[in-house]
Amino acid sequence: MESTNRCPLSQTSTQTKKDDTPLGEIDGMLYGEYLQLDKILSAQRLLSEADKRTVHDEHLFIVTHQAYELWFKQVIYELDSVRMIFSNHRGLDETETLNVIKRLNRLVLILKLLADQVMILETMTPLDFMEFREYLCPASGFQSIQFRLIENKLGMKQENRVRFNQNYVCVFGRDEKALEEIYKSEREPSLAQLVEQWLERTPGLEEDGFNFWGKYKSNVLAMLQTQYNSAMESTTESERMYKTGDFEKKKAMYDSVLDPSLHTALMARGERRFTHRALQGAIMITFYRDEPRFSQPHQILALLMDIDSLVTKWRYNHVLMVQRMIGSAHLGTGGSSGYHYLRSTLSDRYKVFLDLFNLSTFLVPRKYIPPLTTEMKTKLNTYWGQFDEDKRVPRDSV
Ligand code: HEM
Repeated sequence: MESTNRCPLSQTSTQTKKDDTPLGEIDGMLYGEYLQLDKILSAQRLLSEADKRTVHDEHLFIVTHQAYELWFKQVIYELDSVRMIFSNHRGLDETETLNVIKRLNRLVLILKLLADQVMILETMTPLDFMEFREYLCPASGFQSIQFRLIENKLGMKQENRVRFNQNYVCVFGRDEKALEEIYKSEREPSLAQLVEQWLERTPGLEEDGFNFWGKYKSNVLAMLQTQYNSAMESTTESERMYKTGDFEKKKAMYDSVLDPSLHTALMARGERRFTHRALQGAIMITFYRDEPRFSQPHQILALLMDIDSLVTKWRYNHVLMVQRMIGSAHLGTGGSSGYHYLRSTLSDRYKVFLDLFNLSTFLVPRKYIPPLTTEMKTKLNTYWGQFDEDKRVPRDSV
């Protein structure tokens, strides 16, 4: 029987496949046509070949960059879909959380591949590269619009870029389409902003409800008081000095998160990114990640850190390759200081989810984690059947 689910691009055919008909003789679309391979596979134009002195490695150089750009396209596609899910005006629909996780995980795997792919290009030696580098000038990865879109869509802020990078738009000159896309990516809510808004709505933060932050604050103060008392009970002067020094450092660290004005000052300096309330949400999810409703959000936070780490790893692998290829004194073909510019992009300023990395600073030992009330526990759990605290099997008997 002929399938009714025909390919929309194939010519209409009444031809039925006989067992011995060679594939090429059947109307309809084949592999190369579906993938438009004629376009992709004819896009490797070696400038050295056009100049009648073909350099073997230029082929690898072109294919590597093209493969990157194709994957960048997929990264943007996944990123846009995740941003769309988070943009729901009523907040993240929890039935979509698994989709977010699946797509973020896919992004992580692609970025891993991209970070590792640098090694293939490293099989080219600097001397080989030198043989065709002059043909590229002034082309540079600095002009990769897709790379900038990825940065912006993730949440890279203009003010956190290093000086040379702040004016990155100028490389697109009068290319209206590119400029429009770039400005749109700067204007639209980034993944980081959407995650921030989502964290601000973490259930349990309400002051007139579970009031997580109020409880956390008093437990941190109690913990610090215990540490201070222990310092005061020291038997030797050196021990007391050591313990009070440690106490002062810890207190300053916790003050920076307990006092909203200190947090805002750090935000202004670019050392914190999330609003105070979003940070509270992230801390809360980290503490209670074993509760069913928080386990997927916790996975999301871990995946976001993976994405940040892998972009940093790509930057690192790329800069090492650049040093190997052109050393640290040559300027880049895109007009930067080359190695030194790229090295400056490895700092924390380029981490979009910096606060998630620093979260462990504000954790407290388990005994200081505020216990969940029965109401909160019920809110965060989804039981098969009725939950009854009295019938729970004690942990030590399992
Ligand atoms: C021999 C290999 C390569 C060399 C020597 C090289 C060199 C450079 C240099 C010097 C820069 C700084 C900007 C400038 O040109 O002044 C740069 C930026 C960049 N390159 Fe490469 N590159 C190589 C391979 C690649 C590959 C395979 C990709 C993949 C897409 C890539 C993507 C980029 C991107 C996205 C930037 C901008 C980074 C930023 O501004 O943070 N490069 N490259």
